[in-house]
Amino acid sequence: MVSMPMLLFFLVGLIQASVVRLPSPVTEKNYYHETMVTHLDLTDPNTPDDLNPALNRKMQISLFYPILGSWCSVTCGFPYMPAVASSFTSKQFLGANNTYFDSFEFTACCAAPDHKHDPGKVPLLILDPAVGTSRHVYGILAQRIASGGTAVVTIDHPHDTSVIQFENGDTVQGSVQLNPFVAINPWNATVDNALTARTADIKYVLSQLAVVDVVKKLLPSLNVQHAFKTDSFGIAGHGLGGTVATYFGVSDNRTAVSINIDGTPPLLTQNTTKNFVFFGRDPGARREDDIHWNSTWNHIFGQKTAYNLQKGDVFDFTDLPYLNTKLVDPHSGQMKGLGEIGVNGTTATAAMVAAYMKQQFSNPQDLGLRALTEALQDWPGLLPLGQNS
Ligand SMILES: *[C@@H]1O[C@H](CO)[C@@H](O)[C@H](O)[C@H]1NC(C)=O
Ligand SMILES: *[C@@H]1O[C@H](CO)[C@@H](O)[C@H](O)[C@H]1NC(C)=O
Ligand SMILES: *[C@@H]1O[C@H](CO)[C@@H](O)[C@H](O)[C@H]1NC(C)=O
Ligand SMILES: *[C@@H]1O[C@H](CO)[C@@H](O)[C@H](O)[C@H]1NC(C)=O
Ligand SMILES: *[C@@H]1O[C@H](CO)[C@@H](O)[C@H](O)[C@H]1NC(C)=O
Ligand SMILES: *[C@@H]1O[C@H](CO)[C@@H](O)[C@H](O)[C@H]1NC(C)=O
Repeated sequence: MVSMPMLLFFLVGLIQASVVRLPSPVTEKNYYHETMVTHLDLTDPNTPDDLNPALNRKMQISLFYPILGSWCSVTCGFPYMPAVASSFTSKQFLGANNTYFDSFEFTACCAAPDHKHDPGKVPLLILDPAVGTSRHVYGILAQRIASGGTAVVTIDHPHDTSVIQFENGDTVQGSVQLNPFVAINPWNATVDNALTARTADIKYVLSQLAVVDVVKKLLPSLNVQHAFKTDSFGIAGHGLGGTVATYFGVSDNRTAVSINIDGTPPLLTQNTTKNFVFFGRDPGARREDDIHWNSTWNHIFGQKTAYNLQKGDVFDFTDLPYLNTKLVDPHSGQMKGLGEIGVNGTTATAAMVAAYMKQQFSNPQDLGLRALTEALQDWPGLLPLGQNS
């Protein structure tokens, strides 16, 4: 008989043997920063939980924080996704209960001791996921954008994210009745409620990122001097997260960059002079296929830019195409929600968002324009429809 410790030893050996370390983006052009990756639970004391009003809204965030490559003294492996989220994500995209998604790890910076760090000088991006998924399937995107010099915060919203496992072990599963694989239609009370809840969550997260003690908790191994500057930030979101990103662009004047990735915008009835970016897909999810974009577009009098991803599917704008090229356990069949464009879905989405952040926040700003031109050249499958057209 195999003893229990022996069995554990073998299992641990097997698990370790199959871990795949994803390379740091810093080996690629335009990526100069290593990144720290950390997670934090946050409870909003002012907003009751929608399903359990005796409790307050509790969310979980990740921070991908850029550290100049020359400042990072050591990099190490950092889990890509916890086991519970991996189990849900496998079922959702592979139709199987396996350890595919928790067999990866990031190459992350684990120490940069000889420097003072001022997050107030680092551009800040909120990256909001699609409904019914996990913020963890946006981690590679977030790390790449961070490697371009932007701090990226991803958020899991309670009852909306597929599953959240909090630091105390409690899990909360998704129950919002919206399907991440199909566009919003109709816009109904479920959408309104989810949008309201997410907006409050994000405003709370922003308020906490402006508190130096919270930032110190997020970056415990760094000598942090200041909090984030939240009076000007970018927000990019996917699916329902895209809806949220456009909503922030319209309604929160701290929003300097608003990027809606494959999401329905709120229906505008007032004109706005803010700037908006929309990534659609052709065929299937062009601006003119959407229930609101035709009308909302005509109320935008700032700069508005739309792109159509050729032959992509809804989850090409996430980490999934990238992971699909790094198969460890061969799995049968295609991941759900991917089209024909391959790894560019992840790498180019990140490059485009990073470029928009550079365009807004870098000095001189033409650095950002160059980044955008390069990102577009690198992605022949993403066609600009022409500015303001
Ligand atoms: C799926 O995996 C999780 C752990 O990741 C486990 O707790 C659960 O029992 C598994 N379900 C089935 C049906 O195998
Ligand atoms: C809103 O529409 C979605 C389908 O897109 C549906 O699942 C949900 O139940 C609807 N909500 C209400 C309140 O009718
Ligand atoms: C932004 O909006 C707030 C109220 O939401 C207002 O107090 C503030 O003056 C506005 N700032 C600018 C720059 O418009
Ligand atoms: C929006 O701007 C258009 C063009 O200037 C104008 O015709 C329309 O009345 C404006 N709508 C609102 C609600 O202000
Ligand atoms: C949007 O406008 C285009 C062109 O005017 C039209 O063909 C399309 O049907 C409209 N879409 C919706 C959803 O109304
Ligand atoms: C992916 O991007 C590369 C350049 O980075 C390009 O040569 C290739 O054609 C792209 N593939 C697709 C399917 O768009």
